[in-house]
Amino acid sequence: MQKRITAASAAIFILIAFRVYAQSDTIRPAQIWPDTKGNHIQAHGGGIIKVKNDYYWYGEERRQGLDTNYRYVSCYQSKDLVNWTFKGDALQVSKPDTVLGKWVLERPKVYYNVKTRKFVMYCHVDGQVRSAVSTATVTSAYSYARVGVAISDKATGPFRFIRTFRPLGHESRDIGQFIDDDGSAYLIFEDRPFGFRIARLSDDYLDVEKQICLIPAHMEGGAIVHYGGLYYVIGSSLTGWAANPNKYATATDLSGPWTEFKDIAPSETKTYGSQSTMMIKIAGTKKTTVLFMGDIWKPKTQWDSRYLWMPLEIGNGKLWLPQPQPFRLNVRTGETKLIDEKK
Ligand code: GAL
Repeated sequence: MQKRITAASAAIFILIAFRVYAQSDTIRPAQIWPDTKGNHIQAHGGGIIKVKNDYYWYGEERRQGLDTNYRYVSCYQSKDLVNWTFKGDALQVSKPDTVLGKWVLERPKVYYNVKTRKFVMYCHVDGQVRSAVSTATVTSAYSYARVGVAISDKATGPFRFIRTFRPLGHESRDIGQFIDDDGSAYLIFEDRPFGFRIARLSDDYLDVEKQICLIPAHMEGGAIVHYGGLYYVIGSSLTGWAANPNKYATATDLSGPWTEFKDIAPSETKTYGSQSTMMIKIAGTKKTTVLFMGDIWKPKTQWDSRYLWMPLEIGNGKLWLPQPQPFRLNVRTGETKLIDEKK
């Protein structure tokens, strides 16, 4: 009996020790980012929301061996933004519109609607075929330019795909999400002929209701944060998967006027090889931190694409992405600490 108890406590101890060991408090930009099972996180071009005490990270699921008849959006859950548990593919969808041939689903973003208690997903839906097959079809690469909308009762899905459309009748390629401090939800979308549009979602979030601003800048990977009384918008240039110097502008009101765009990092580093997808504000007990979330794309081996997350230097109209370095993050206090792991 005694022996059995000892063996059982040893097993529990090992389990606890392993769990403690497996937990990490460090984010390592550009490195493989293992989820809690040790697999590299697949949430590319993603977005994050916080519901109660949990963060959910949604993104493009690009693991190897997927059924090519479908497109997938992954969902990960975390309490600390560092350790992420894969909750499965929250959306799995075969061709949403009959006019589409080979197609892509990119940059999914999820909003939680407190009134309807539904989770609403937006994503970029487009054609993928490089050469236009015929002018009668809209399947040529990136000419469909629509958003897709899906809905779920639970954060982790399954999401039900509803429809695709052009927001307010405009072309829409890269999308970004912004939730203001008062909870209002906005979609940022790239309308190629004109620029970035910021538009408010309808009450149930299932539609894009009202344009707030058109920023006449030709940029992608749009992201916004409200910090210290100012709105900061960032975006990249239109160079496809190749990195370029991302830029930012500020405004006191979402509707503008916006300042000129300036580099967020030394231009020769091309945003350290990354492209913006989102900024997250962490209002902790000691500090409010804003993290830059970017993708380091590997177009030929997309499953190996990396993430570049870094605390931004932000305030008084300035925004700067420091040289990437591993850092510790405490979501409770909002504090971060850069770490030199080479020592
Ligand atoms: C990027 C865009 C990505 C993807 C890629 C395709 O500019 O941000 O989401 O669409 O182009 O070339």
